[in-house]
Amino acid sequence: MTLSDTTRLLHELEPVVAENLDRHLATSKEWMPHEYIPWSQGRDYVGPDGEPWSVEQSQLSPIARTALELNLLTEDNLPSYHREIERAFGNDGPWGTWVGRWTAEEGRHGYALRDYLLVTRGVDPVELERARMATMTEGFDSGDKPLLRVCAYVSFQELATRVSHRNTGRYTDDPIANKLMARISMDENLHMIFYRNLVTASLEISPDEMVKAIRDEIVDFQMPGAGIEGFQRKAFQMAQAGIYDPRNHLDDVVMPLLRHWGVMELTGLGPEGEQARAELAAFLATADSQAATFVEKREAAAARRAARAG
Ligand SMILES: [Fe+2]
Ligand SMILES: [Fe+2]
Repeated sequence: MTLSDTTRLLHELEPVVAENLDRHLATSKEWMPHEYIPWSQGRDYVGPDGEPWSVEQSQLSPIARTALELNLLTEDNLPSYHREIERAFGNDGPWGTWVGRWTAEEGRHGYALRDYLLVTRGVDPVELERARMATMTEGFDSGDKPLLRVCAYVSFQELATRVSHRNTGRYTDDPIANKLMARISMDENLHMIFYRNLVTASLEISPDEMVKAIRDEIVDFQMPGAGIEGFQRKAFQMAQAGIYDPRNHLDDVVMPLLRHWGVMELTGLGPEGEQARAELAAFLATADSQAATFVEKREAAAARRAARAG
């Protein structure tokens, strides 16, 4: 896509952004992060009455701790994501208003999650702070993706984050964490709807380019937290726990969006769009069998553990 194509597209999508911004502002409800934190559980870490962190103070299981920490570090990287979408969407008119509003909403997620974890002694605060420094110093860089790829990526990413937060909350077995994560994931859902509607409009304006962008983002998809130290190992633990695994990714993130957009039923695509769609279909078939294998292996391992436990 050339620069003038991008400028034209930004202009053509502007009324869609304005309309969806209004819809978003009318739909999203104000919420107060401080109301979700059990402040009375908090105590000093240092000083005369202070007690440093140690693992037995945490009510959370090791995997619940890992999942919350990974989700928090992902949210912490907001300045990088802000840079990315500001670069792609610009700062003018409704695009710029959305960039600001979205950033402000996302800001709550990290603050609330950190407050919860510090007050409840859910994670090692020293390790968490060092990991945050490392994550933010490294940043997140998608490599100047063109506009339509950004729209596709953020649709998948917001939905993936929604599923991950929601399932993490359930997994903690703590009603306070569950309530907070459910609230955050409602925001992610509204963000997803905003971006999903931009993709819908782009499929009408520029169907071949949009289908190619959807294919590229599905084939290359990585969670926004993929650059965090130890991400692979931690994401694998979360997948083993069923919080976010290849099955969730396909069934709860990729397929619902493809169905919503009607990608497989679109008519009137040119040769490039048709080719992209065929490649996408082949990729999905492979991903589906890989997800099935992953779940089978996990179930077999669980059955072996159960048999050993007698
Ligand atoms: Fe978020
Ligand atoms: Fe979000």
